[in-house]
Amino acid sequence: MDNRAVGIFDSGLGGLTALKALQELLPEENILYFGDTGRLPYGEKSREQLRRMAVQDLDLIASFDVKAIIVACGTLSSNAADILERYPIPSFGVLKAGVAGMRKVPGDGPLGVIATAASIRSGAFEKALRADCPGREILPVPCPDFVPLIESGHGSGDPAIRDAVARYCAPLREADAVLLGCTHYGIIEGALSDYLGQSTALVSAAYCGAAQVAQYLIVNGMTGGRGEERFLVSGDPGAFGRAASTLLGRPLAQGAERVPVMAY
Ligand code: DGL
Repeated sequence: MDNRAVGIFDSGLGGLTALKALQELLPEENILYFGDTGRLPYGEKSREQLRRMAVQDLDLIASFDVKAIIVACGTLSSNAADILERYPIPSFGVLKAGVAGMRKVPGDGPLGVIATAASIRSGAFEKALRADCPGREILPVPCPDFVPLIESGHGSGDPAIRDAVARYCAPLREADAVLLGCTHYGIIEGALSDYLGQSTALVSAAYCGAAQVAQYLIVNGMTGGRGEERFLVSGDPGAFGRAASTLLGRPLAQGAERVPVMAY
């Protein structure tokens, strides 16, 4: 039993899809969430910047004495996997778990992955999918407009989201499954599944990553807590609090607190 919090971080709202999943699986866990809203979007940053930011974000979260960290960001998971893996506190990205989720997709048709420009450019999702799902065509598609639209309040029903989904996802209509390689994309899952249709399964890297951490805590006897949450942001705490409570369907008990924006 370990009552310390689980740290979860992302550039903004996307990591809430992992938070939600962890709370479904282990509702008693205490959670410390960091949304780096002062520096988003991560998907437009260079690999060097992202690697520096990964260290800064991990160090910030680690300063709160957490027992494990979910790097709920496909962009950092794909550009800084080695940094997460050797961090002294157990830290889990969403790439490996998401790709493992794709391994279970039946059939031999194509598999897609949608993610930020920096994630797709890294080649890490494509490489891991090719290794884990041999014999299948892999279709990697960057979707740079999704995160700015989602962070500015657009949801599945908005025409701007529907247009962007149609623009990016046309090559994926024949895929057996599409990996949501960016944690933000679960927020527009409705628009994605409406466009891609029932024959294309959606696999959430955020959910798979949270499930992997839940399993790690259970196996290592490290579960425990009182279901408390604390939210930190480097941008506007009021805006984040409002958007987060809309997405979670409940108010944040303590709101969100501001931390300084770090240079990168
Ligand atoms: N949600 C993040 C990801 O999974 C970051 C998106 C961004 O800030 O561009 O990639």
